[in-house]
Amino acid sequence: MIPAAKVQRTAATVVSSWPYAPAPESKDIVKIADRYGLFIGGKFVEPLSKQHYTTIDPAREEPLSEIAQAGKADVAKAVRAAREAYTGRWSKLRPSERAKYLFRIARILQERAREFAVLESRNGGKPIRESRDVDVPLAAAHFFYYAGWADKLEYAFPNRKPRPIGVAGQIIPWNFPLLMLAWKIAPALAAGNTVVLKPAETTPLTALLFCDVLRQAELPPGVVNIITGDGRTGAELVSNAGVDKIAFTGSTEVGKAIARTLAGTGKRLTLELGGKAANIVFDDAPLDQAVEGIVNGIYFNQGHVCCAGSRLFVQESIYEAVISKLKGRMSTLRVGDPLDKNTDVGAINSKAQLEKITSLVASGVEEGAEIYQPPCKLPERGYWFVPTVFTNVAQSYRIAQEEIFGPVLSVLTFRTPDEAVEKANNTPYGLSAGVWTEKGSRILAMAQKLRAGVVWANTYNRFDPASPFGGYKESGFGREGGLHGLEPYLALEEA
Ligand code: NAI
Ligand code: MG
Repeated sequence: MIPAAKVQRTAATVVSSWPYAPAPESKDIVKIADRYGLFIGGKFVEPLSKQHYTTIDPAREEPLSEIAQAGKADVAKAVRAAREAYTGRWSKLRPSERAKYLFRIARILQERAREFAVLESRNGGKPIRESRDVDVPLAAAHFFYYAGWADKLEYAFPNRKPRPIGVAGQIIPWNFPLLMLAWKIAPALAAGNTVVLKPAETTPLTALLFCDVLRQAELPPGVVNIITGDGRTGAELVSNAGVDKIAFTGSTEVGKAIARTLAGTGKRLTLELGGKAANIVFDDAPLDQAVEGIVNGIYFNQGHVCCAGSRLFVQESIYEAVISKLKGRMSTLRVGDPLDKNTDVGAINSKAQLEKITSLVASGVEEGAEIYQPPCKLPERGYWFVPTVFTNVAQSYRIAQEEIFGPVLSVLTFRTPDEAVEKANNTPYGLSAGVWTEKGSRILAMAQKLRAGVVWANTYNRFDPASPFGGYKESGFGREGGLHGLEPYLALEEA
Protein backbone atom coordinates (compact mmCIF):
# COMPACT_ATOMS: atom_id res chain seq x y z
CA MET A 1 0.00 0.00 0.00
CA ILE A 2 1.27 3.49 -0.83
CA PRO A 3 1.18 5.96 2.09
CA ALA A 4 -1.39 8.75 1.62
CA ALA A 5 1.21 11.51 1.82
CA LYS A 6 3.12 9.98 -1.05
CA VAL A 7 0.01 9.67 -3.26
CA GLN A 8 -0.74 13.33 -2.68
CA ARG A 9 2.77 14.42 -3.53
CA THR A 10 2.70 12.41 -6.75
CA ALA A 11 -0.63 13.90 -7.81
CA ALA A 12 0.65 17.39 -7.08
CA THR A 13 3.78 16.77 -9.13
CA VAL A 14 1.75 15.59 -12.08
CA VAL A 15 -0.62 18.58 -11.96
CA SER A 16 2.12 21.18 -11.63
CA SER A 17 3.89 19.73 -14.64
CA TRP A 18 1.05 20.64 -16.99
CA PRO A 19 2.26 23.87 -18.50
CA TYR A 20 0.05 26.02 -20.70
CA ALA A 21 0.76 25.39 -24.34
CA PRO A 22 0.91 28.61 -26.32
CA ALA A 23 -2.24 29.16 -28.39
CA PRO A 24 -1.35 32.05 -30.66
CA GLU A 25 -3.83 33.52 -33.12
CA SER A 26 -2.36 33.81 -36.61
CA LYS A 27 -1.26 37.28 -37.67
CA ASP A 28 -1.64 36.45 -41.37
CA ILE A 29 -5.38 36.98 -41.49
CA VAL A 30 -4.95 40.74 -41.72
CA LYS A 31 -2.71 42.69 -44.07
CA ILE A 32 -1.16 45.91 -42.77
CA ALA A 33 -0.01 48.43 -45.39
CA ASP A 34 3.46 49.96 -45.01
CA ARG A 35 1.92 53.40 -45.08
CA TYR A 36 -1.54 54.96 -44.90
CA GLY A 37 -2.97 58.23 -46.16
CA LEU A 38 -6.06 60.03 -44.91
CA PHE A 39 -9.54 58.75 -45.79
CA ILE A 40 -11.28 61.81 -47.22
CA GLY A 41 -14.19 61.91 -49.67
CA GLY A 42 -14.32 58.13 -49.97
CA LYS A 43 -10.67 57.52 -50.84
CA PHE A 44 -7.21 57.48 -49.34
CA VAL A 45 -5.27 60.66 -50.11
CA GLU A 46 -1.75 61.76 -49.25
CA PRO A 47 -1.67 64.24 -46.36
CA LEU A 48 -1.07 67.86 -47.48
CA SER A 49 1.12 68.12 -44.37
CA LYS A 50 3.42 65.51 -45.97
CA GLN A 51 4.05 64.18 -42.46
CA HIS A 52 3.88 60.64 -41.19
CA TYR A 53 4.68 58.93 -37.91
CA THR A 54 5.20 55.28 -36.96
CA THR A 55 2.56 53.21 -35.19
CA ILE A 56 3.84 50.21 -33.25
CA ASP A 57 2.88 46.91 -31.66
CA PRO A 58 3.23 47.69 -27.93
CA ALA A 59 3.74 44.03 -27.02
CA ARG A 60 6.81 43.76 -29.22
CA GLU A 61 7.93 47.38 -29.62
CA GLU A 62 7.94 46.73 -33.35
CA PRO A 63 6.85 49.20 -36.04
CA LEU A 64 3.65 48.23 -37.85
CA SER A 65 3.02 51.06 -40.29
CA GLU A 66 3.53 54.72 -41.20
CA ILE A 67 0.51 56.86 -40.34
CA ALA A 68 -0.39 60.30 -41.72
CA GLN A 69 -0.25 63.25 -39.34
CA ALA A 70 -3.09 65.45 -40.62
CA GLY A 71 -2.45 69.18 -40.46
CA LYS A 72 -4.80 72.17 -40.50
CA ALA A 73 -5.36 72.05 -44.29
CA ASP A 74 -6.05 68.30 -44.15
CA VAL A 75 -8.61 68.77 -41.40
CA ALA A 76 -10.29 71.55 -43.39
CA LYS A 77 -10.38 69.31 -46.46
CA ALA A 78 -12.02 66.48 -44.49
CA VAL A 79 -14.61 68.84 -43.00
CA ARG A 80 -15.44 70.20 -46.49
CA ALA A 81 -15.88 66.65 -47.79
CA ALA A 82 -18.22 65.88 -44.89
CA ARG A 83 -20.21 69.09 -45.55
CA GLU A 84 -20.59 68.32 -49.26
CA ALA A 85 -21.73 64.79 -48.49
CA TYR A 86 -24.18 66.14 -45.91
CA THR A 87 -25.87 68.78 -48.06
CA GLY A 88 -25.52 66.98 -51.37
CA ARG A 89 -26.64 63.53 -50.43
CA TRP A 90 -26.83 62.12 -46.94
CA SER A 91 -29.30 64.54 -45.34
CA LYS A 92 -31.65 64.09 -48.33
CA LEU A 93 -31.57 60.32 -48.29
CA ARG A 94 -34.66 58.47 -47.07
CA PRO A 95 -34.02 57.29 -43.50
CA SER A 96 -34.72 53.69 -44.47
CA GLU A 97 -31.90 53.99 -47.02
CA ARG A 98 -29.52 55.28 -44.34
CA ALA A 99 -30.50 52.26 -42.27
CA LYS A 100 -29.51 49.89 -45.08
CA TYR A 101 -25.95 51.23 -45.09
CA LEU A 102 -25.69 50.81 -41.32
CA PHE A 103 -26.96 47.24 -41.52
CA ARG A 104 -24.41 46.52 -44.22
CA ILE A 105 -21.57 47.92 -42.15
CA ALA A 106 -22.67 45.81 -39.19
CA ARG A 107 -22.79 42.64 -41.25
CA ILE A 108 -19.41 43.26 -42.88
CA LEU A 109 -17.87 43.85 -39.44
CA GLN A 110 -19.21 40.47 -38.38
CA GLU A 111 -17.89 38.79 -41.51
CA ARG A 112 -14.44 40.32 -41.03
CA ALA A 113 -14.43 39.98 -37.23
CA ARG A 114 -11.23 37.94 -37.06
CA GLU A 115 -9.27 40.49 -39.06
CA PHE A 116 -10.43 43.28 -36.81
CA ALA A 117 -9.75 41.33 -33.62
CA VAL A 118 -6.18 40.47 -34.62
CA LEU A 119 -5.44 44.01 -35.78
CA GLU A 120 -6.91 45.54 -32.61
CA SER A 121 -4.75 43.28 -30.44
CA ARG A 122 -1.60 43.95 -32.45
CA ASN A 123 -1.90 47.72 -32.50
CA GLY A 124 -3.31 48.22 -28.99
CA GLY A 125 -1.93 45.33 -26.89
CA LYS A 126 -5.25 43.99 -25.65
CA PRO A 127 -5.76 40.20 -25.33
CA ILE A 128 -7.21 38.58 -28.44
CA ARG A 129 -9.89 36.97 -26.27
CA GLU A 130 -11.19 40.44 -25.42
CA SER A 131 -10.94 41.96 -28.89
CA ARG A 132 -12.55 38.83 -30.34
CA ASP A 133 -15.31 38.38 -27.74
CA VAL A 134 -15.99 41.97 -26.62
CA ASP A 135 -14.69 44.81 -28.81
CA VAL A 136 -15.57 43.54 -32.27
CA PRO A 137 -18.98 41.93 -31.55
CA LEU A 138 -20.06 45.01 -29.58
CA ALA A 139 -18.94 47.32 -32.38
CA ALA A 140 -21.10 45.35 -34.84
CA ALA A 141 -23.97 45.36 -32.33
CA HIS A 142 -23.86 49.17 -32.14
CA PHE A 143 -24.25 49.45 -35.91
CA PHE A 144 -27.13 46.95 -35.88
CA TYR A 145 -28.81 48.79 -33.02
CA TYR A 146 -28.63 52.27 -34.54
CA ALA A 147 -29.53 50.93 -38.00
CA GLY A 148 -32.83 49.99 -36.39
CA TRP A 149 -33.49 53.55 -35.21
CA ALA A 150 -32.59 55.38 -38.45
CA ASP A 151 -36.13 55.28 -39.86
CA LYS A 152 -37.94 55.41 -36.51
CA LEU A 153 -36.72 58.73 -35.11
CA GLU A 154 -40.26 60.15 -34.98
CA TYR A 155 -41.24 57.24 -32.73
CA ALA A 156 -38.14 57.69 -30.63
CA PHE A 157 -39.03 61.31 -29.90
CA PRO A 158 -42.82 61.69 -29.97
CA ASN A 159 -44.24 65.18 -30.69
CA ARG A 160 -40.85 66.34 -31.91
CA LYS A 161 -39.50 66.86 -35.37
CA PRO A 162 -36.04 65.30 -35.25
CA ARG A 163 -33.54 66.58 -37.82
CA PRO A 164 -29.80 66.05 -38.18
CA ILE A 165 -27.42 68.81 -37.17
CA GLY A 166 -24.75 68.55 -39.88
CA VAL A 167 -21.07 67.63 -39.62
CA ALA A 168 -19.90 65.85 -36.47
CA GLY A 169 -16.22 65.97 -35.44
CA GLN A 170 -15.39 62.91 -33.33
CA ILE A 171 -12.23 62.27 -31.33
CA ILE A 172 -11.65 58.89 -29.73
CA PRO A 173 -9.11 57.27 -27.40
CA TRP A 174 -6.88 54.21 -27.64
CA ASN A 175 -8.43 51.85 -25.10
CA PHE A 176 -11.30 50.55 -27.30
CA PRO A 177 -10.39 51.90 -30.74
CA LEU A 178 -12.94 50.12 -32.95
CA LEU A 179 -15.66 50.06 -30.32
CA MET A 180 -15.38 53.80 -29.64
CA LEU A 181 -15.49 54.39 -33.39
CA ALA A 182 -18.75 52.44 -33.53
CA TRP A 183 -20.19 54.30 -30.49
CA LYS A 184 -19.48 57.57 -32.29
CA ILE A 185 -20.24 56.84 -35.95
CA ALA A 186 -23.35 54.63 -35.68
CA PRO A 187 -25.68 57.15 -33.93
CA ALA A 188 -24.31 60.09 -35.93
CA LEU A 189 -25.11 58.42 -39.26
CA ALA A 190 -28.44 57.00 -38.07
CA ALA A 191 -29.51 60.55 -37.20
CA GLY A 192 -28.50 61.78 -40.68
CA ASN A 193 -25.21 63.55 -39.95
CA THR A 194 -21.87 63.11 -41.64
CA VAL A 195 -18.62 62.54 -39.79
CA VAL A 196 -14.95 63.42 -39.50
CA LEU A 197 -13.39 61.02 -37.00
CA LYS A 198 -9.90 61.08 -35.51
CA PRO A 199 -8.64 57.88 -33.88
CA ALA A 200 -5.99 58.07 -31.14
CA GLU A 201 -2.41 58.37 -32.34
CA THR A 202 -1.29 55.02 -30.89
CA THR A 203 -4.18 52.95 -32.29
CA PRO A 204 -5.21 54.10 -35.78
CA LEU A 205 -5.13 50.76 -37.59
CA THR A 206 -8.65 49.38 -37.04
CA ALA A 207 -10.15 52.77 -37.99
CA LEU A 208 -8.13 52.61 -41.22
CA LEU A 209 -9.28 49.04 -41.90
CA PHE A 210 -12.82 50.24 -41.23
CA CYS A 211 -12.45 52.50 -44.30
CA ASP A 212 -12.34 49.32 -46.35
CA VAL A 213 -15.61 48.23 -44.75
CA LEU A 214 -17.14 51.56 -45.83
CA ARG A 215 -15.93 50.93 -49.38
CA GLN A 216 -17.45 47.44 -49.33
CA ALA A 217 -20.72 48.84 -47.99
CA GLU A 218 -20.67 51.44 -50.79
CA LEU A 219 -21.30 54.25 -48.35
CA PRO A 220 -21.50 57.51 -50.35
CA PRO A 221 -18.12 59.31 -50.41
CA GLY A 222 -17.56 61.88 -47.68
CA VAL A 223 -20.22 60.58 -45.28
CA VAL A 224 -17.43 59.22 -43.07
CA ASN A 225 -13.92 60.69 -43.21
CA ILE A 226 -11.08 59.31 -41.09
CA ILE A 227 -8.15 61.59 -40.32
CA THR A 228 -5.18 60.40 -38.32
CA GLY A 229 -2.73 62.33 -36.17
CA ASP A 230 -2.05 63.27 -32.57
CA GLY A 231 -3.62 65.87 -30.27
CA ARG A 232 -2.73 68.70 -32.65
CA THR A 233 -4.99 67.17 -35.30
CA GLY A 234 -7.73 66.82 -32.68
CA ALA A 235 -7.36 70.46 -31.68
CA GLU A 236 -7.66 71.53 -35.36
CA LEU A 237 -10.85 69.54 -35.71
CA VAL A 238 -12.31 71.12 -32.56
CA SER A 239 -11.58 74.66 -33.73
CA ASN A 240 -12.65 74.17 -37.36
CA ALA A 241 -15.64 76.46 -37.99
CA GLY A 242 -17.29 73.99 -40.36
CA VAL A 243 -17.98 71.44 -37.62
CA ASP A 244 -21.42 71.57 -35.95
CA LYS A 245 -20.81 69.14 -33.13
CA ILE A 246 -17.85 67.67 -31.27
CA ALA A 247 -17.98 64.31 -29.52
CA PHE A 248 -14.90 63.49 -27.45
CA THR A 249 -13.80 60.52 -25.35
CA GLY A 250 -10.50 60.80 -23.51
CA SER A 251 -8.79 62.53 -20.63
CA THR A 252 -10.54 65.04 -18.39
CA GLU A 253 -7.71 67.48 -19.05
CA VAL A 254 -8.28 67.54 -22.82
CA GLY A 255 -12.05 67.50 -22.30
CA LYS A 256 -11.81 70.69 -20.29
CA ALA A 257 -9.62 72.33 -22.95
CA ILE A 258 -12.16 71.42 -25.63
CA ALA A 259 -15.01 72.86 -23.55
CA ARG A 260 -13.05 76.13 -23.24
CA THR A 261 -12.42 76.29 -27.01
CA LEU A 262 -16.08 75.69 -27.81
CA ALA A 263 -17.56 78.03 -25.18
CA GLY A 264 -19.73 80.63 -26.91
CA THR A 265 -19.45 79.10 -30.39
CA GLY A 266 -22.87 77.45 -30.31
CA LYS A 267 -21.33 74.13 -31.36
CA ARG A 268 -22.76 71.07 -29.68
CA LEU A 269 -20.48 69.11 -27.36
CA THR A 270 -20.53 65.77 -25.57
CA LEU A 271 -17.65 64.62 -23.37
CA GLU A 272 -16.94 61.15 -22.03
CA LEU A 273 -13.97 61.53 -19.70
CA GLY A 274 -12.22 59.74 -16.91
CA GLY A 275 -13.42 57.80 -13.90
CA LYS A 276 -12.46 56.39 -10.52
CA ALA A 277 -15.29 53.99 -9.99
CA ALA A 278 -16.25 52.38 -6.70
CA ASN A 279 -16.90 48.64 -6.73
CA ILE A 280 -18.74 47.97 -3.45
CA VAL A 281 -18.93 44.49 -1.89
CA PHE A 282 -21.40 43.90 0.98
CA ASP A 283 -21.06 41.07 3.46
CA ASP A 284 -24.03 39.17 2.01
CA ALA A 285 -22.57 39.08 -1.51
CA PRO A 286 -21.71 35.74 -3.17
CA LEU A 287 -17.95 36.08 -2.63
CA ASP A 288 -16.54 33.98 -5.46
CA GLN A 289 -18.77 35.75 -7.93
CA ALA A 290 -17.79 39.12 -6.45
CA VAL A 291 -14.09 38.28 -6.76
CA GLU A 292 -14.62 37.48 -10.46
CA GLY A 293 -16.35 40.85 -10.78
CA ILE A 294 -13.53 42.65 -8.99
CA VAL A 295 -10.95 41.04 -11.29
CA ASN A 296 -13.00 41.77 -14.40
CA GLY A 297 -13.64 45.28 -13.10
CA ILE A 298 -9.98 46.28 -12.85
CA TYR A 299 -7.84 43.87 -14.89
CA PHE A 300 -10.05 43.74 -18.01
CA ASN A 301 -8.20 45.51 -20.87
CA GLN A 302 -5.17 46.10 -18.58
CA GLY A 303 -7.34 48.52 -16.60
CA HIS A 304 -7.37 50.90 -19.57
CA VAL A 305 -11.08 51.41 -18.98
CA CYS A 306 -12.74 54.70 -18.08
CA CYS A 307 -15.37 52.85 -16.05
CA ALA A 308 -12.86 50.44 -14.41
CA GLY A 309 -13.72 49.46 -10.83
CA SER A 310 -10.46 50.93 -9.58
CA ARG A 311 -11.57 51.60 -5.99
CA LEU A 312 -12.75 48.46 -4.22
CA PHE A 313 -14.86 49.02 -1.09
CA VAL A 314 -15.19 45.90 1.05
CA GLN A 315 -17.43 45.64 4.11
CA GLU A 316 -15.15 45.17 7.10
CA SER A 317 -16.56 41.83 8.27
CA ILE A 318 -15.58 40.07 5.02
CA TYR A 319 -12.36 41.96 4.37
CA GLU A 320 -9.89 39.12 5.10
CA ALA A 321 -11.88 36.59 3.09
CA VAL A 322 -12.20 38.84 0.06
CA ILE A 323 -8.54 39.85 0.01
CA SER A 324 -7.32 36.29 0.34
CA LYS A 325 -9.63 35.04 -2.45
CA LEU A 326 -8.65 38.01 -4.60
CA LYS A 327 -4.91 37.39 -4.23
CA GLY A 328 -5.45 33.72 -5.04
CA ARG A 329 -7.38 34.61 -8.17
CA MET A 330 -4.78 37.20 -9.22
CA SER A 331 -2.06 34.58 -9.13
CA THR A 332 -3.90 32.66 -11.88
CA LEU A 333 -4.01 35.62 -14.29
CA ARG A 334 -1.87 35.06 -17.36
CA VAL A 335 0.01 38.16 -18.45
CA GLY A 336 1.70 38.21 -21.84
CA ASP A 337 1.33 37.94 -25.60
CA PRO A 338 -1.95 39.63 -26.59
CA LEU A 339 -2.31 37.24 -29.53
CA ASP A 340 -2.25 34.17 -27.26
CA LYS A 341 -5.81 32.96 -26.66
CA ASN A 342 -4.90 32.08 -23.03
CA THR A 343 -3.81 35.60 -22.16
CA ASP A 344 -5.85 37.49 -19.56
CA VAL A 345 -3.79 40.66 -19.30
CA GLY A 346 -2.02 42.02 -22.38
CA ALA A 347 0.44 44.83 -23.03
CA ILE A 348 0.17 48.39 -21.74
CA ASN A 349 -0.85 50.56 -24.68
CA SER A 350 2.12 52.90 -24.79
CA LYS A 351 5.36 53.81 -23.11
CA ALA A 352 3.80 57.05 -21.87
CA GLN A 353 0.92 55.17 -20.23
CA LEU A 354 3.34 52.68 -18.65
CA GLU A 355 5.28 55.59 -17.16
CA LYS A 356 2.10 57.12 -15.78
CA ILE A 357 1.06 53.82 -14.14
CA THR A 358 4.56 53.23 -12.76
CA SER A 359 4.75 56.67 -11.18
CA LEU A 360 1.28 56.46 -9.59
CA VAL A 361 2.10 53.02 -8.17
CA ALA A 362 5.33 54.44 -6.73
CA SER A 363 3.30 57.21 -5.07
CA GLY A 364 1.06 54.56 -3.47
CA VAL A 365 4.05 52.80 -1.94
CA GLU A 366 5.50 56.10 -0.81
CA GLU A 367 2.29 57.28 0.81
CA GLY A 368 2.16 54.06 2.86
CA ALA A 369 -0.19 51.64 1.10
CA GLU A 370 0.65 47.94 1.09
CA ILE A 371 1.33 46.55 -2.37
CA TYR A 372 0.71 43.01 -3.64
CA GLN A 373 1.73 41.68 -7.04
CA PRO A 374 1.50 37.96 -7.86
CA PRO A 375 4.67 36.26 -9.10
CA CYS A 376 4.68 36.78 -12.82
CA LYS A 377 7.18 36.38 -15.66
CA LEU A 378 6.94 39.27 -18.08
CA PRO A 379 8.14 39.20 -21.70
CA GLU A 380 11.47 40.94 -22.23
CA ARG A 381 10.34 43.38 -24.88
CA GLY A 382 7.20 45.49 -24.85
CA TYR A 383 5.28 47.47 -22.23
CA TRP A 384 4.00 45.43 -19.30
CA PHE A 385 2.62 45.93 -15.83
CA VAL A 386 1.90 43.15 -13.33
CA PRO A 387 -1.69 43.13 -11.97
CA THR A 388 -1.42 45.02 -8.69
CA VAL A 389 -3.55 45.45 -5.58
CA PHE A 390 -3.04 48.02 -2.84
CA THR A 391 -4.44 47.51 0.65
CA ASN A 392 -4.20 49.90 3.61
CA VAL A 393 -5.25 52.73 1.34
CA ALA A 394 -6.44 56.06 2.76
CA GLN A 395 -8.96 58.11 0.79
CA SER A 396 -6.43 60.94 0.55
CA TYR A 397 -3.80 58.87 -1.30
CA ARG A 398 -3.27 59.68 -4.96
CA ILE A 399 -3.97 56.03 -5.86
CA ALA A 400 -7.45 56.47 -4.33
CA GLN A 401 -8.14 59.76 -6.09
CA GLU A 402 -6.48 59.83 -9.50
CA GLU A 403 -7.34 57.75 -12.52
CA ILE A 404 -4.44 55.32 -13.01
CA PHE A 405 -5.83 53.70 -16.18
CA GLY A 406 -3.81 50.56 -15.55
CA PRO A 407 -4.15 47.16 -13.81
CA VAL A 408 -3.98 48.66 -10.32
CA LEU A 409 -6.66 48.26 -7.66
CA SER A 410 -6.96 50.29 -4.44
CA VAL A 411 -8.85 48.59 -1.61
CA LEU A 412 -10.71 50.53 1.09
CA THR A 413 -13.22 49.36 3.69
CA PHE A 414 -16.60 50.45 5.11
CA ARG A 415 -19.01 49.42 7.86
CA THR A 416 -22.45 50.70 6.87
CA PRO A 417 -24.19 51.32 3.53
CA ASP A 418 -24.21 55.08 4.24
CA GLU A 419 -20.48 55.08 4.78
CA ALA A 420 -20.01 53.17 1.51
CA VAL A 421 -22.07 55.77 -0.37
CA GLU A 422 -20.24 58.68 1.18
CA LYS A 423 -16.81 57.27 0.38
CA ALA A 424 -17.81 56.10 -3.10
CA ASN A 425 -19.11 59.57 -3.98
CA ASN A 426 -16.00 61.26 -2.59
CA THR A 427 -14.42 61.78 -6.02
CA PRO A 428 -14.52 64.45 -8.71
CA TYR A 429 -15.61 61.72 -11.15
CA GLY A 430 -18.96 59.98 -11.59
CA LEU A 431 -18.95 57.53 -14.45
CA SER A 432 -19.77 54.14 -13.03
CA ALA A 433 -20.06 51.98 -9.91
CA GLY A 434 -20.65 48.38 -8.90
CA VAL A 435 -22.69 46.92 -6.05
CA TRP A 436 -22.46 43.33 -4.83
CA THR A 437 -25.20 42.13 -2.49
CA GLU A 438 -27.98 39.52 -2.27
CA LYS A 439 -30.56 42.16 -1.36
CA GLY A 440 -32.54 43.64 -4.25
CA SER A 441 -33.78 46.54 -2.12
CA ARG A 442 -30.20 47.46 -1.23
CA ILE A 443 -29.20 47.45 -4.89
CA LEU A 444 -32.00 49.92 -5.69
CA ALA A 445 -31.19 52.13 -2.71
CA MET A 446 -27.48 52.22 -3.58
CA ALA A 447 -28.14 52.88 -7.27
CA GLN A 448 -30.18 55.94 -6.32
CA LYS A 449 -27.54 57.35 -4.01
CA LEU A 450 -24.40 56.70 -6.04
CA ARG A 451 -23.53 59.68 -8.23
CA ALA A 452 -22.52 57.58 -11.21
CA GLY A 453 -23.93 57.37 -14.73
CA VAL A 454 -23.92 53.58 -14.73
CA VAL A 455 -24.40 51.34 -11.69
CA TRP A 456 -23.85 47.62 -12.18
CA ALA A 457 -25.35 45.15 -9.71
CA ASN A 458 -23.68 41.79 -9.16
CA THR A 459 -21.79 42.20 -12.42
CA TYR A 460 -19.27 44.66 -13.85
CA ASN A 461 -18.13 46.11 -17.20
CA ARG A 462 -21.20 44.88 -18.98
CA PHE A 463 -22.23 46.76 -22.12
CA ASP A 464 -25.21 46.75 -24.38
CA PRO A 465 -25.93 49.12 -27.27
CA ALA A 466 -29.46 49.69 -25.95
CA SER A 467 -28.24 50.97 -22.61
CA PRO A 468 -27.01 54.58 -22.23
CA PHE A 469 -23.50 55.21 -20.92
CA GLY A 470 -22.00 58.46 -19.63
CA GLY A 471 -20.99 60.44 -16.59
CA TYR A 472 -21.61 63.01 -13.92
CA LYS A 473 -19.25 65.76 -12.76
CA GLU A 474 -15.73 65.54 -14.20
CA SER A 475 -16.57 62.31 -16.02
CA GLY A 476 -18.31 64.43 -18.64
CA PHE A 477 -21.81 64.95 -19.99
CA GLY A 478 -24.07 63.50 -22.64
CA ARG A 479 -24.89 59.82 -23.11
CA GLU A 480 -23.83 57.26 -25.67
CA GLY A 481 -25.88 54.17 -26.42
CA GLY A 482 -29.62 53.70 -26.37
CA LEU A 483 -32.15 56.37 -27.31
CA HIS A 484 -30.18 58.86 -25.24
CA GLY A 485 -27.25 58.36 -27.61
CA LEU A 486 -29.25 59.76 -30.55
CA GLU A 487 -30.10 63.07 -28.86
CA PRO A 488 -26.67 64.72 -29.20
CA TYR A 489 -26.90 64.18 -32.97
CA LEU A 490 -30.40 65.61 -33.45
CA ALA A 491 -32.12 68.95 -33.32
CA LEU A 492 -35.47 68.18 -31.70
CA GLU A 493 -37.96 70.85 -32.77
CA GLU A 494 -41.54 71.00 -31.54
CA ALA A 495 -43.71 69.17 -34.06
P1 NAI B 1 -5.95 62.23 -24.41
O1 NAI B 1 -7.22 62.82 -23.87
O2 NAI B 1 -4.79 63.14 -24.63
O3 NAI B 1 -6.27 61.52 -25.82
C1 NAI B 1 -7.54 61.11 -26.25
C2 NAI B 1 -7.79 61.59 -27.68
O4 NAI B 1 -7.77 63.03 -27.69
C3 NAI B 1 -6.70 61.17 -28.67
O5 NAI B 1 -7.31 60.92 -29.91
C4 NAI B 1 -5.82 62.40 -28.75
O6 NAI B 1 -5.09 62.51 -29.94
C5 NAI B 1 -6.83 63.51 -28.65
N1 NAI B 1 -6.31 64.80 -28.15
C6 NAI B 1 -5.22 65.03 -27.36
N2 NAI B 1 -5.07 66.35 -27.14
C7 NAI B 1 -6.09 66.97 -27.78
C8 NAI B 1 -6.51 68.33 -27.92
N3 NAI B 1 -5.84 69.31 -27.33
N4 NAI B 1 -7.62 68.61 -28.65
C9 NAI B 1 -8.32 67.63 -29.22
N5 NAI B 1 -7.99 66.33 -29.15
C10 NAI B 1 -6.89 65.99 -28.43
O7 NAI B 1 -5.55 61.03 -23.47
P2 NAI B 1 -4.08 60.38 -23.30
O8 NAI B 1 -3.05 61.46 -23.19
O9 NAI B 1 -3.92 59.39 -24.37
O10 NAI B 1 -4.22 59.64 -21.91
C11 NAI B 1 -4.03 60.34 -20.70
C12 NAI B 1 -4.97 59.85 -19.64
O11 NAI B 1 -6.30 60.15 -20.01
C13 NAI B 1 -4.98 58.35 -19.43
O12 NAI B 1 -3.94 57.94 -18.60
C14 NAI B 1 -6.33 58.16 -18.82
O13 NAI B 1 -6.28 58.44 -17.44
C15 NAI B 1 -7.19 59.18 -19.51
N6 NAI B 1 -7.95 58.59 -20.63
C16 NAI B 1 -9.29 58.34 -20.48
C17 NAI B 1 -10.00 57.72 -21.48
C18 NAI B 1 -11.43 57.39 -21.35
O14 NAI B 1 -11.89 56.44 -21.95
N7 NAI B 1 -12.22 58.16 -20.64
C19 NAI B 1 -9.35 57.31 -22.74
C20 NAI B 1 -7.97 57.68 -22.83
C21 NAI B 1 -7.32 58.28 -21.80
MG1 MG C 1 -2.88 63.42 -23.84
